[in-house]
Amino acid sequence: MADYFQRLNYALGDEDTALEYAILPKHARHVVGIAGSGGRLLPLLARSPARMTCTDISAPQLAFTRLRFALLEQTDHASFMAFMGYRTDSSTKRRQSIFRHLDLPQADRHWLTELFQSRHWQAPIYMGAFEQTLQRLAKVNRLFTGKAGREVFHCRDLGEQIEYYQTRFPLKRWKAVIALLGNAAVLNSLLYKGSFPPNNLGISSRAAYLEIFHALFTTQVVRESFFLQMLFFGELRYPQGFPLECAPKIFKRAREALQQCELRVVQAYILDCVATLSEVDFVSLSDVPSFMPEADGASVLQRLRPSLAEEALTVIRGHLHVVQPDCSGFGDITADYQKAIARERTQLWRVQVYRRTSPLQVSR
Ligand SMILES: C[S@@+](CC[C@H](N)C(=O)[O-])C[C@H]1O[C@@H](n2cnc3c(N)ncnc32)[C@H](O)[C@@H]1O
Repeated sequence: MADYFQRLNYALGDEDTALEYAILPKHARHVVGIAGSGGRLLPLLARSPARMTCTDISAPQLAFTRLRFALLEQTDHASFMAFMGYRTDSSTKRRQSIFRHLDLPQADRHWLTELFQSRHWQAPIYMGAFEQTLQRLAKVNRLFTGKAGREVFHCRDLGEQIEYYQTRFPLKRWKAVIALLGNAAVLNSLLYKGSFPPNNLGISSRAAYLEIFHALFTTQVVRESFFLQMLFFGELRYPQGFPLECAPKIFKRAREALQQCELRVVQAYILDCVATLSEVDFVSLSDVPSFMPEADGASVLQRLRPSLAEEALTVIRGHLHVVQPDCSGFGDITADYQKAIARERTQLWRVQVYRRTSPLQVSR
């Protein structure tokens, strides 16, 4: 576990934050979230919380998160898009110039300079170990599914896409790619160095991935999914699928919100961090409970509870490992968000949403 969290693992990630954005009410008093790449939380700022605490156990992830916030605060949307690598026409010179003008903590500047220099100032969004694994998988996918696979991205609407998927998409060869992707041993050795939480879904990983991708191909226009773009091209080609932080309106609102939000970035184990806080009304846990020691995963809501305001919301994502937390004092309100969950652009996640109930309410 320790090894895995000591390098930059996520620069883009595999979560579509539009989901948490849909769940988070405007003007929350205190939002707490796992930082990850920073891209998980930047859009939540656009909901104008009074306070936001971003936490992660990984120093590289936090440096990357502070970089995103510095770009948000000190540059504009066009520079953010160019710097991060969402715009492919941006030069490495421009990236270096933007970086030179950023006001960053000295230690971050030092670490980021080394990272960027070692990668020749190429697009930062592909620099995490996770994104590099996806780029390797994209190469394998390209070999297996070829042009016929990539052509599904030419479909402009769902009807056309489903027709293509059912008649011309190289489904057998795609299933061979899924067998590779679904092989926990491959993911373990490529990325997680043995820390990947064991599958507890009650179905094989291959069956889980078959379900996920079938849902993606038949319910979402694939070019709108940044995750599918990564799997087929190893890069983002279609702006329709860019993550929420790229939407000009979200960027603008997040930038305005930054003026009045008390923002903190804290290196800590999430439960220790939350234990120091009070009156928190939104917690975005990513899939961290799956990585926790079993006892912490099972008691995660109870450990958060003393720091939560009444009616506080907690959002948990689980991939192949889903925790079943002790829900006493909480209502499971996941069903209220089925539409937003179905729209999530990666479909990689089993989502759980809990509301803290007041002592007199019976949880449903
Ligand atoms: C488990 S990963 C998942 C990343 C995610 N799917 C994304 O798209 O960014 C989320 C982040 O949680 C951090 N993390 C893992 N366990 C943690 C813990 N107990 N407390 C705080 N952060 C933790 C990792 O360093 C990583 O940056």
